[in-house]
Amino acid sequence: MSNHALQNAAEILRKSRCTIAFTGAGISVESGIPPFRGPGGVWSKYDPEKFEKGYFKRHPEEVWHLLKEIFYDTQARAKPNPAHLALAELEAAGRLAAVITQNIDGLHQAAGSKTVYEYHGSTRRMQCLDCRTFFDAATISLDILPPPCPHCGGLLKPDFVFFSEAIDFDVHREATELAKGSDVCLIVGTGGEVMPAGRIPLVTRNAGGTVIEINRFETRYSYGFSDIFLQGKAGTMLPKLVDLILG
Ligand code: APR
Repeated sequence: MSNHALQNAAEILRKSRCTIAFTGAGISVESGIPPFRGPGGVWSKYDPEKFEKGYFKRHPEEVWHLLKEIFYDTQARAKPNPAHLALAELEAAGRLAAVITQNIDGLHQAAGSKTVYEYHGSTRRMQCLDCRTFFDAATISLDILPPPCPHCGGLLKPDFVFFSEAIDFDVHREATELAKGSDVCLIVGTGGEVMPAGRIPLVTRNAGGTVIEINRFETRYSYGFSDIFLQGKAGTMLPKLVDLILG
């Protein structure tokens, strides 16, 4: 990736009236959380079919063991990395309106980002499928699986979107409106393989905005869609970019 491209991206972001960041699993890889696709991807080791809501309700114990192994044990040790911190710094400096993330790890908020749209929900909350009560996941012990609802003993589910579940309509609507009103969409760590989240950069582009992409590997966005493709690790690239923007 050329320094010229980085300077060019910084210039565009410096002049931007309204910038959003659209992030995915790649921004958390340097926090020790594996991506879903590509090298070491979760879906190369586990069957995504098991994270379909009907399967979960039929096999709660089996799926809860996977949920603990893939998400809770990994995230318990994960800390925000320089990429998350760089986006929080950009927001604090008034140069980033919001993060629209597909991630469910809560690391953007842990890094200090204030306006975060969680397109796919979060592992940090759980909901009882019987009494519908929400709980902070930090208050739920995973020593017994599936963990019983503290209120009614029913089946708890992490509050993230399982396959075949709908996206939270308010998040979808507000994120789409924000993307429409942005003049720059900064893609970080996602290949946009999953819809409708993956179309967020297209909404900004269709409204006349610019798309800047930071990804470690080429994606469907990289050639023919992104205006600038900065290939590299987010934990290295984003702090450099933010230093150039904030001077
Ligand atoms: N720095 C920057 N980008 C990285 C890094 C890194 N260190 N490591 C990997 N990447 C990039 C890869 O280039 C890839 O484009 O992150 C992306 C990871 O892609 P996915 O694993 O498909 O993650 P994501 O796009 O967020 O997946 C979308 O799929 O399974 C569903 O709900 C799940 O939210 C998830 C959705």
